[in-house]
Amino acid sequence: MTEEFELIIFGGDGDLSYRKIYPALYHRLNEGQISKNVRILAVSRKPYEIEDFRQKVKSEILSYVKDANIKIVDQLISLISNGRIDTNKGEECAVTKSWFLESTDYVRVFYLATPAVVFGSISKYLDKMQYITAKSRVVLEKPLGKNLESSEQINDEVAKYFKEEQIYRIDHYLGKETVQNLMVLRFANNIFESSWNAKDIDNVQITVAESIGVGTRGAFYDQYGALRDMVQNHLLQLLCLIAMEPPVNLEADEVRDEKLKVLKALRFYTPETINENTVRGQYTRGGSDTDPLPSYLEDIEKFSSKTETFVALKANIDNWRWGGVPFYLRTGKRMPHRYSEIIINFKKVPHNIFPDKKNVESNRLTVRLQPDEKIELLQMVKVPGPGGYRYKPYALELDYADHFEHRFPEAYERLLMDVVRGNQTLFMRRDEVKASWEWIESITKNWETNNVSNVLYEADSWGPGGDILEEDHKWAKSHHVKRLEEKQKG
Ligand code: BG6
Repeated sequence: MTEEFELIIFGGDGDLSYRKIYPALYHRLNEGQISKNVRILAVSRKPYEIEDFRQKVKSEILSYVKDANIKIVDQLISLISNGRIDTNKGEECAVTKSWFLESTDYVRVFYLATPAVVFGSISKYLDKMQYITAKSRVVLEKPLGKNLESSEQINDEVAKYFKEEQIYRIDHYLGKETVQNLMVLRFANNIFESSWNAKDIDNVQITVAESIGVGTRGAFYDQYGALRDMVQNHLLQLLCLIAMEPPVNLEADEVRDEKLKVLKALRFYTPETINENTVRGQYTRGGSDTDPLPSYLEDIEKFSSKTETFVALKANIDNWRWGGVPFYLRTGKRMPHRYSEIIINFKKVPHNIFPDKKNVESNRLTVRLQPDEKIELLQMVKVPGPGGYRYKPYALELDYADHFEHRFPEAYERLLMDVVRGNQTLFMRRDEVKASWEWIESITKNWETNNVSNVLYEADSWGPGGDILEEDHKWAKSHHVKRLEEKQKG
């Protein structure tokens, strides 16, 4: 069980809190990991009577957590108090000193689930009120700014009041079970490491496909687009875990030092290279003829928007291990189905001794992150029978669900507990955020210089990602996805 702590959630009646934070607290309480003496203060702009607020939290938890135990939900909401703040003017805050325990021995977590533009004013307010203790931590939700300058500005403001060791920048992908398994797969299995390099690997592909559109987040999303919303953080973090050198241990800075080196080795795009190595797209109406899905422009009701809902990139990591290996990244909304996979395509055998030369497929390791977590290793196998060598590719499949009966904790459960425990390994350090924005800006600025516009793709299709692939490369899919697609076709 973790030590007792105080959790103060700014944006306590926001979408993120209802969808992720309260359900995460419920699960941790249900599994006995947090004590019944934990204190939670939900701070919001809208005023609520405490009982009304608790009932709202309760009904939201019940809508997000299947078969929730009502007794535990009731216990959780009884731990919640609420307060009010006008986050634009930190001064008008009604978070009273009396709520905090007198002892400063407790871990105090300030969770800023608000737009990043107010991180500075909230931090200033917390400092002015002398709420920040030595054992305080602040959690910052993404996106941290829209570009390098705004991100640096936000980080500067927060850094006036909190030390880097107190700052926890969330990228929820790092809290996913299967993303953490990338570390185990790479560094607890000797067979992969010796071929984890440009000598043996032909290309790496990372796909994070979403079937949803922008839903009710249109106004927010339209200011960011797929590159800033997904690539700057989630996809780059996945790339780092695949490409980094083995850290000497799991200490936060050891791991983050290695990730930073990868970010710094990413080759910047130029006006000469941007067009052939990147594609941006926006979804139009698509899907069934009778009941089509709306276009992005219809979704956001703003018909002049040039925001991309899809992006595909060919990235190069200029270092000894990865020289010459393309890393293909793609992500988009309104794809035919939701899945995230990392595919490592190994090189072809150097010489084929078999007569049927055309059919020797390269080995392929697929890490399926979500849903239906799996690892697949594609290998060539002889088809039994006399009459010479005939062979076929088969996938060795490790399906998590077959081996682990436990519910997989949601990313936020682990991340929240790591904040309380003071473990920063799964959180982005400031220099990582800076390095990733520097690289992202080599895309946004060159898109602007070269006037790169969106390629339109129909909702319910895979988007225009093919344009960036080198000759004889194609987007690969796990067997699992292929089977799913065959089933859907009937
Ligand atoms: C968020 C993005 O960070 O990640 C969303 O802002 C996206 O646009 C979401 O839908 C995807 O997360 P997950 O965990 O569902 O893959």
